[in-house]
Amino acid sequence: MRIHTVAQPHALADAAAGLVATLVRAAPHARIGLPTGETPLETYAALARRVASGTLDLSRATGYAIDEFAGATHAAPGTNAAFYARHITFPLAALHCPDNAAPDPGAEIAAFAMQLTSAGRLDLCLLGIGVNGHIAFNEPGAAVDSRARVVALAPSSRQAHASAFGGIARVPSRAMTLGIADLLESRTLVVLAHGPAKANIVRAALNGPETPELPASWLRRHPDITWLLDEAAASALTVP
Ligand code: GLP
Repeated sequence: MRIHTVAQPHALADAAAGLVATLVRAAPHARIGLPTGETPLETYAALARRVASGTLDLSRATGYAIDEFAGATHAAPGTNAAFYARHITFPLAALHCPDNAAPDPGAEIAAFAMQLTSAGRLDLCLLGIGVNGHIAFNEPGAAVDSRARVVALAPSSRQAHASAFGGIARVPSRAMTLGIADLLESRTLVVLAHGPAKANIVRAALNGPETPELPASWLRRHPDITWLLDEAAASALTVP
């Protein structure tokens, strides 16, 4: 496990974009897991700048969602598909995301996971961390061997997405997610966290016990994981 602390969030985005660039130069057809949320926005902007300046070509790489809302409508602005349309502005070979309006979300996420398995595991998965320790939409209670499935969203997670959906009542109550075991199968994991609001959960994930109550704590079992933190997010860490 590597913990890399930088002074500012933009340095964190540059570091994350650099890891993606290094991977894709060696493996142009890489499969990359792409989180949503506020955390990766600067990383996606940094990737877009590198692509625009011609120093990076992601057009043969494939992006994969790691989660998506269930029971939404295609027009809903808060879905992960809508997020990708807004923020993944550089060309990829494909960007796969489960259908948020699928009539049977269980079958949809099973088919999505099967498609990923058939393609081969993710080469790199970027991850954010929820304030309650969720990873993708593996909410507290998620087991280390959990697989792709439909989950009920925690109230705090629905609240976090209220403005994107135009009010909490419009936030779906369920989501589809890759499981902890699926994410641990990625060749490489890169967890991003910045800002003081993430300090306590980062400390618990890295210094506390491994427990389903804190799904991010399971990530410590991955053999090739980098935590990219700004000083605020790293401020509560105790030196091992
Ligand atoms: C979201 C997503 C996660 C994301 C997390 C943190 O709900 N399902 O993939 O990493 O919550 O979000 P943020 O980066 O906005 O704090």
